[in-house]
Amino acid sequence: MKNSISDFALYGGEKVFSTFRTTTNMVPPDREVFFNYAKKAFENRQFTNNGENVKELERQLAVFHEVKHCIAVSNGFRAFMLAVKALALPHKTEVVIPSLAYRSSGYMIEWTGFIPHFCDVEAQTRTVSAQTVEKCINKNTAALAIPHPMVTLCDIDEIVALAKKHGLPLIFDSVEAVGASYKGKMIGGFGDAETFSMHASKLINSAEGGYITTNNDELADLLRKMRAFGFVAKDTVDCLGLNTKLNELHSAMGLAGLSWIERQISENKAMHLAYQEHFKDIAGLEIVPYAENEKRNWKTCLVKINSEWPFTRDLTLEILNAENINAREYYNPPLHFIYSRDRSVYADLPNTEKVCQEYFLLPFGYSMSVDDTKMIADVLKAMLRFKNELLAKG
Ligand SMILES: Cc1ncc(COP(=O)(O)O)c(C=O)c1O
Repeated sequence: MKNSISDFALYGGEKVFSTFRTTTNMVPPDREVFFNYAKKAFENRQFTNNGENVKELERQLAVFHEVKHCIAVSNGFRAFMLAVKALALPHKTEVVIPSLAYRSSGYMIEWTGFIPHFCDVEAQTRTVSAQTVEKCINKNTAALAIPHPMVTLCDIDEIVALAKKHGLPLIFDSVEAVGASYKGKMIGGFGDAETFSMHASKLINSAEGGYITTNNDELADLLRKMRAFGFVAKDTVDCLGLNTKLNELHSAMGLAGLSWIERQISENKAMHLAYQEHFKDIAGLEIVPYAENEKRNWKTCLVKINSEWPFTRDLTLEILNAENINAREYYNPPLHFIYSRDRSVYADLPNTEKVCQEYFLLPFGYSMSVDDTKMIADVLKAMLRFKNELLAKG
């Protein structure tokens, strides 16, 4: 309970939590399921190179995403890299991607030999539209690489139509959209390929891992070759490959993670609804809701700061962080702030620069209990009660 501003941890008070509450999910998969699959690797004496576990994981993921093919790889970075490398038009130079995106998105493109062309987002949806992407399409464009934002999805039909209109390959970075559906169909089969991460901070935790989904048979064959040195037969290589296979033990983790994804999503939903309830009467802060008419993963609690909130985003985070509430910025800084002009292309991106200041992420997932959501809301309510003192000090 904060009865004066000296009760805030930033000004010497006791922290609300003795250990960090974080924004990452980090849900450890069921141990028994993991150990059973891991045991198979020992029994089969096969720890990598397309063993039983990776094949089973790919089969289950293809069913989950309602697609023909899933190609598992060592992480989401490599999944995206392989998809871009396999699909982007080879004699062109630029891949269009929004600047408001995951921090390493530009590097994922650079590793394939292309340069990122950063486009803007729509201020309302935090994601690209056909207009913001089309402005960046030119004679150098090799592909469109479109991430779904957190919580909502981009307008897939609109982007697919745009890619078709310009004859461009389309890759969705669907890391944030795992488990979601669009017009009743699971995310995974849209565009030419979609890519996912199974990092420990993601909904399906294989410790490290990633995968590509596609309905294109030829592309799937090529990606399978590329992830394993490009081999087509003993001593025969027919494409530029690398070693980015997913091994049997990480596949066992992935299978364990996938086995309880529905339970995780329902626990996430309960926590999200609890946050929404406690934030109802906090003027100036709005929890971005998940759509209830489609499948969603409920894995993130994103807050929009409206004009009535009297504090800056940075002071808000400073006060929360001091309480061990590790709330953090939403895709800030945008990528064009950290990229030099000789390694990227971009014009003015006004919506991106606005949106990156207006949102923050609240702790969510494994480090949190449903009761913690009230304690976090109480800190923000206390900030409003001591508004004048905090602003004078802050
Ligand atoms: C949107 C997005 N794309 C790609 C990645 C890369 O995934 P990985 O960490 O498995 O390499 C991440 C990781 O956080 C991500 O958030």
